[in-house]
Amino acid sequence: MADGATDPRTIYLKDYTPFPWVIDGVDLTFALAPRGTRVTSRIRFRPDPDAPPGPFFLHGEDLRLIEARIDGQPVTPTVTPEGLTCDVPTGPFTWEAVVENDPELNTRLEGLYLSKGMYCTQCEAEGFRRITYYPDRPDVMAVFTVRIESDLPVLLSNGNPEESGPGFATWHDPWPKPAYLFALVAGDLVALHDSFTTRSGRHVDLGLWVRPGDEGKCAWGMESLKASMRWDEEAYGREYDLDVFNIVAVDDFNMGAMENKGLNIFNSSAILASPDTATDADYERVERIVAHEYFHNWTGNRITCRDWFQLSLKEGLTVFRDQQFTGDMRGHGVKRIGDAVLLRGRQFREDNGPLAHPVRPESFVEINNFYTVTIYEKGAEVIGMLKRLVGDDGYRRALDLYFDRHDGQAATVEDWLKVFEDATGRDLAQFKLWYSQAGTPRVKVEESWEDGRYRLDMTQTIPPTPGQPDKQPMVIPVALGLLNPNGDEVLPTTVLELTGGQQSFTFDNLSARPVPSILRGFSAPVILERDAPEGEAAFLLAHDTDQFNRWEAAQTLARRAIRARLDGQAIDASWVPSLAAALRDDALAPADRAALLGLPSEEETAQALWDDKRIPDPTAIHHAHEAVRDHLAQGLRDLLPQLHDGGRMPGPYSPDAKSVGRRSLGNAALRLLSRTDDGVRAAAQFAEAADMTQSVAALGALLAVGRGEEQLRAFHDRWAQDRLVLDKWFSLQVGLARPEAAVALAQRLTQHPDFDWKNPNRFRAVLGALASNPAGFHDASGAGYRLLADWLIRLDGANPLSAARMSTAFDSWRRLDVDRQALIQSELGRIQAAPGLSRDLSEMVGRMIG
Ligand code: ARG
Ligand code: ZN
Repeated sequence: MADGATDPRTIYLKDYTPFPWVIDGVDLTFALAPRGTRVTSRIRFRPDPDAPPGPFFLHGEDLRLIEARIDGQPVTPTVTPEGLTCDVPTGPFTWEAVVENDPELNTRLEGLYLSKGMYCTQCEAEGFRRITYYPDRPDVMAVFTVRIESDLPVLLSNGNPEESGPGFATWHDPWPKPAYLFALVAGDLVALHDSFTTRSGRHVDLGLWVRPGDEGKCAWGMESLKASMRWDEEAYGREYDLDVFNIVAVDDFNMGAMENKGLNIFNSSAILASPDTATDADYERVERIVAHEYFHNWTGNRITCRDWFQLSLKEGLTVFRDQQFTGDMRGHGVKRIGDAVLLRGRQFREDNGPLAHPVRPESFVEINNFYTVTIYEKGAEVIGMLKRLVGDDGYRRALDLYFDRHDGQAATVEDWLKVFEDATGRDLAQFKLWYSQAGTPRVKVEESWEDGRYRLDMTQTIPPTPGQPDKQPMVIPVALGLLNPNGDEVLPTTVLELTGGQQSFTFDNLSARPVPSILRGFSAPVILERDAPEGEAAFLLAHDTDQFNRWEAAQTLARRAIRARLDGQAIDASWVPSLAAALRDDALAPADRAALLGLPSEEETAQALWDDKRIPDPTAIHHAHEAVRDHLAQGLRDLLPQLHDGGRMPGPYSPDAKSVGRRSLGNAALRLLSRTDDGVRAAAQFAEAADMTQSVAALGALLAVGRGEEQLRAFHDRWAQDRLVLDKWFSLQVGLARPEAAVALAQRLTQHPDFDWKNPNRFRAVLGALASNPAGFHDASGAGYRLLADWLIRLDGANPLSAARMSTAFDSWRRLDVDRQALIQSELGRIQAAPGLSRDLSEMVGRMIG
């Protein structure tokens, strides 16, 4: 981070030292109570012969220490707000402590807390220290036995169930794990039960636990779990390793979900789904997150991280694995496009602003602030590049070696790269820069053609980022194909390795000057800079065999149209006809055609302008995007009705890839159609909709053209009792509000009786939706900034983790005009001066102010 050096609380990777003891076993007893939950711990410590000796320090925060003993004798540790130290014997000893904590008062949703009468935990990254005193660091792994005492009917923890009776249950987890994977759930819950037999014959009882009333929303989560378990066996040879696997849905949760060993805990929005309450996108998200958490069982749990700087070791890899899974389930082409959109919209923004940090950061103040798109998504991209460079077989050998060599360990990025070097013989010294250098590389490509020889000259530059003024060239795999002027492919996809700052690649024996298809499949997370000749994009849209680059060509054309509008120029007349031709092509799957209809986001346009040394004006960008949509709607007028009709399907809802593809094309068409038909089709679809996908698409299409008041009211009345659907009601209207109305609407909705600001999903549904409506949020009055700052200050008092995450809405401030910059700067200053500001939010604001 930029000014880590100035914050005394900064923790550095270079300061890593191992914990001086090994733990031979942990016994925990919980006597649950809303206030004064009693946690009795019994931990057997033994000096680690391989670690240098050091002081006995246990983390602990917001705990009341009732008593402590060593080998049965009372001791009096020195207690600070961060933990305790104590004199201990030189040999092995048993530590026992009784502490109390108050789940009912825990609004941070870290550690042990209560959500609607249900006890649950969130320990990653450093929540366990809010439960009891413990060496709360990922490199300390131990076998846990847990006894829960409570009158609540369902008592769950990690591992396998042992004994249970009225008022208690015990669980034993045979796999050594770090404390961040600990979990406990107690409540009045009901379950959907199922089972799975692993390929070596282990019978596993599966349970998906929800509050009564949600039973009807469990089936898809369970299907997704079984599909994930099968897939990990087939694709990675990884089997499940306990007799039970439980998933629990919780309404109050800071993130999507958590991979606690044998007891995954999910934000209810990431696990519950039924046709009438969840959209296709929700179904896909549930499938993806279930897979992600399940895959962590090997990449994260069996092999964990030595320290939190290595976070991407588990998160980047697990995201990469869930991407492969979703690709297998739903098509690799659309999946890749979706991932690229996310990366460009969010990760590139992060990587090019004040919060930029490497995939492996070197310092942090609050680790929760590093659960970022860079750690997750760029981390996954880095693994994708590695796989491209060593090939599928090399990747498989390296992964087998990784699981073999590091099972049961807390590993590092060095360990990870070493298995690739050992398995493939490749030197990865330069490749490792992807882990240490922040910033999105720019690859400039120029071409020449002479005497049958085609040459590509590539230059890479990596812009400076906070704390990293100078960069070295990286290894960039550039997947390339060449097409003949008649559209035939003359060079099938070939991976060029760009390793120098400047490098040329030549291709001989070509009969005609080829058309290049560069960075196929988005083969590296870079920005391609190229002045493509007139007509090339339309040519690639028609002929490229690479699905990603065909979509990219459509994006290029759309970007040009947006630029033309912004600059008051005419939109290229060939754009709409070339797009229409692709949309009519029945050889293209509906999902692929739907993707072709998507415009780059306003955020992407802002980034591109900034890259061109122009100051992006969010309002002007919004109007340009709107004008381009109108242009498209007019130009595709004859085609859109039939595309929309194709999305109507008889019979019951099914979330299979084919049906989803048809609906997404139909609804993309509807969105445009509503610009020219006074919302007639959308209103009809809303009235007839038999499932949430069709209903939300229709409502969104109406709201996007300033209609839908009546439908919005009906939607609220119909779904007033369903909190997940109500979140959609909040976020849709704010996200799609006209720029001049968005802030006032968001403000009004924060006064709505259903606005429960302590619930992270609901807070995000209003304030997060405002931040995702750039023209609304960046209203020149500064009212959006003020509203968000007010709410962040308030939320920070209850839930610093969520407040800090949401503060990233301000991270693009330096690329705005001076007036907006001044407005944001004063809001950031106001936040910084708020009394009692958390470490989480103060780190974020400090980094953004820079
Ligand atoms: N490991 C979880 C996942 O990616 C995320 C947990 C994040 N927790 C946090 N406190 N930041 O699946
Ligand atoms: Zn994860």
